[in-house]
Amino acid sequence: MEKNTDGKNEYILQCEGISKAFGGTQALKDVQLYVKPGEVHALMGENGAGKSTLMKIVIGLHKQDKGEIIFEGQPYQVKGPVDAINAGIAMIHQELNPEPHLSIAESIFLKREDTVGKFFLNKKKQNERAGEILKQFDFPYGPKTLIKELTLAQVQMVEIIKAVSSDARMIIMDEPTSSLDSEETDHLFRVIRELKAKGVAIIYISHRMEEIFKICDTVSVFRDGMFITSAPLSEISRDELISKMVGRKVENVFPKVDCKIGDVVFKAENLSGKGFKDINFEVRAGEILGVSGLVGSGRSETMRAIFGLDPIDGGKMYLEGKEIKNKNPRAAINKGICMVNEDRKNYGLCLLRSLRENISLPNLPQKQKGLLINQRREMKECEEVAKQLTVKAASIEHDAFSLSGGNQQKVVIAKWIMANPKLLILDEPTRGVDVGAKSEIHSLMCQFAAKGMAVIMISSELPEIMGMSDRILIYHEGTINGEVTREEILSSSATEEVILAKAFGGK
Ligand SMILES: Nc1ncnc2c1ncn2[C@@H]1O[C@H](COP(=O)(O)OP(=O)(O)OP(=O)(O)O)[C@@H](O)[C@H]1O
Ligand SMILES: [Mg+2]
Repeated sequence: MEKNTDGKNEYILQCEGISKAFGGTQALKDVQLYVKPGEVHALMGENGAGKSTLMKIVIGLHKQDKGEIIFEGQPYQVKGPVDAINAGIAMIHQELNPEPHLSIAESIFLKREDTVGKFFLNKKKQNERAGEILKQFDFPYGPKTLIKELTLAQVQMVEIIKAVSSDARMIIMDEPTSSLDSEETDHLFRVIRELKAKGVAIIYISHRMEEIFKICDTVSVFRDGMFITSAPLSEISRDELISKMVGRKVENVFPKVDCKIGDVVFKAENLSGKGFKDINFEVRAGEILGVSGLVGSGRSETMRAIFGLDPIDGGKMYLEGKEIKNKNPRAAINKGICMVNEDRKNYGLCLLRSLRENISLPNLPQKQKGLLINQRREMKECEEVAKQLTVKAASIEHDAFSLSGGNQQKVVIAKWIMANPKLLILDEPTRGVDVGAKSEIHSLMCQFAAKGMAVIMISSELPEIMGMSDRILIYHEGTINGEVTREEILSSSATEEVILAKAFGGK
């Protein structure tokens, strides 16, 4: 590819020969990225490949050790995200850092003093302007609503609105759809198409193959911090793309193994609470029960209440035939119910603790034979689980904070798997996880089901939920609006369309 700096070149962004190390970890080795105006450029690679690191260099959060960036034909160097926005580049981050006490309007204009000028301190003007923007996006809340009242998906949407409204000429989206449902994703895609038409360049990072082929024009692939290839998506197949990313063939995307289904482990009877009512279902030993529906349909709310994170207002629940109540997650864990949460930052990980501590925290009572924790055994078990899930980290003594997004998710899952519960609830377990590790997580789910664990999996990805579940419950507006079985899926009498129709309230 030609490099030129005469200001009229074909590319809006040229990254060349970029390297970056964090201590002993070489996150990027001599990578390149060339993006054209008006294109949606996918950046793909396994967890820890270096995608987010390169993007953080582009917006000035990290400084490269080596290499050059040219933006709109000019050498480009920024001191941080505010500087980058002023230069024309905005980024939506993978790990959201919402400021819960701010209003939506304040959040949209946060750190934009320069672009908003003297209006910044004028709350009324700020609210009016934010109100207009929110309307353009059909956002269901007004500018004065506080961020803490929003769901994760809505916070994500505010981030997207914030980037789009900054009039950037290039927008980086690092896994923007990981907490959006299909309707919200379609909405985002409409926005992306409009931006494209205006000549805005988009760098799009996602592990979801369907999205890449639907919305992107070009793809660049990184593996282990190195640039592998770049190609128009019309010239590369799904399988080729996977093997470029992984460096090997991934045989089975959903390795579901049928297990013997045993007795009822957990039963919900007319459960009601905030966001759900009259929920009835059973899940058996060896069964993987999928839970589908739109974000906000009450799926996560039901599971949170079962796990003791939120109160239950009515109904009963039973574990192995005995009625139980969970005042808090600790009570649930003691009975053998574990949950991997949607929002790993708030509930799943202690970012400043080591991986070993994170993995073994919930398991301490089991390991505390005598008064001391058996440290050698703890180390060994943690290392095994981390290896099984291919957690990419220099050592399990590293802080969880320094892991890539997908690797953090793997640690959360490792943590609960080691607790060996009777009922394991997984809320979007493979969110942000790459294809290879995704199938590792899926085969672990099958292994644990085979040992007699009951598994409940919430997922917004239809291929995943259809590929992995013995049965699927479909939520609509707080109630269960239908159920399909594995037989129906395998015989194609329950298709994606059938499930979506039920999720939208149809019969
Ligand atoms: N602040 C940091 N300190 C130390 N190591 C880091 C830091 N940020 C990233 N790394 C390491 O750099 C490598 C690349 O991480 P990066 O977050 O760029 O991966 P990624 O491609 O975005 O992966 P994912 O798909 O999981 O988000 C990883 O090995 C990660 O552990
Ligand atoms: Mg990342």
